Amino acid sequence: MLMITGATGALGTLVTARLADRDDVVIGTRSPAPGGRRTDFDDPASLDFTGVGTLLVISAGAAEDDVVIARHEAAISAAEKAGVGHLVYTSLSGDGDHLTYALAHRWTERRLRASSLDWTVLRNGLYAEFLAAVAAPASDGTIAAPLGTGRLAAVAREDLAEVAVRVATDPAAHAGRTYELVGEDALGGADLAAATGGSYEPGTLAATREAITAAGQALPFQVPMLLSTYAAIAGGFLDGTSVEDRGTLRSLLGKEPRPAIEVYKATVRP
Ligand SMILES: NC(=O)c1ccc[n+]([C@@H]2O[C@H](COP(=O)([O-])OP(=O)(O)OC[C@H]3O[C@@H](n4cnc5c(N)ncnc54)[C@H](OP(=O)(O)O)[C@@H]3O)[C@@H](O)[C@H]2O)c1
Repeated sequence: MLMITGATGALGTLVTARLADRDDVVIGTRSPAPGGRRTDFDDPASLDFTGVGTLLVISAGAAEDDVVIARHEAAISAAEKAGVGHLVYTSLSGDGDHLTYALAHRWTERRLRASSLDWTVLRNGLYAEFLAAVAAPASDGTIAAPLGTGRLAAVAREDLAEVAVRVATDPAAHAGRTYELVGEDALGGADLAAATGGSYEPGTLAATREAITAAGQALPFQVPMLLSTYAAIAGGFLDGTSVEDRGTLRSLLGKEPRPAIEVYKATVRP
């Protein structure tokens, strides 16, 4: 049996759609439909992985580090207790070590390597859809995100879902592997503006921090998350050049990755 946690999120939905024709797949989510299992990492008593051969754990990273670490500890610990054979974990690309949210991912990877489970780590690069959310054009077409001259090797969420399915449905072939899954083409503010017919007028981190705080929509932990993302892109850490095997995404997909710029365009101008 293959079980997917976090199945109703954006990535999880793409994963489960690809597995819809299989009858050995169990959906784990905080609000399960009939036939699914309630799987809330904040409630360890809810974690029932009985009979699960392969568990795909979609990271539950939107929280403070101590919360995320406790969630992932609960998931791995429950998998060990239930005798799960193989755990596949969606992590963050190695070039993302400067991001505030890298810490909980690296903690989870370390915990997994020390576990009694077979494992595979999918180090997902930042989504092209996420880039569209944090560097969208304003109504006049101006992109003001503080990306400097930096670029992001963004990756289509669909591609990451496809790889997760390939790995989770043939786990033995990927045991003990950590895959860096970043895009092949890096995108900067000027590229985004050229693709959308606008202009790129990068703001500063300070002005962006002020604007995010003033908008009042971000939770306190999300402000440094976002700022560290802009700073890491602007600093040139996320352009893919430091990723050793940049062809891993293509090779696991067995085809050319979806162009991130097309995903960006479709997301900002649906
Ligand atoms: N690479 C990137 O650009 C990027 C961007 C944003 C986030 N991420 C990370 O990748 C993960 C998946 O991305 P996404 O786009 O699918 O994010 P998303 O749409 O925000 O989904 C978040 C997921 O976290 C799960 N979750 C939250 N709290 C949980 C809990 N207490 N117990 C179990 N599951 C919990 C949710 O599961 P339910 O089905 O139960 O709701 C949901 O699937 C995120 O959670 C985050 O860690 C990556």
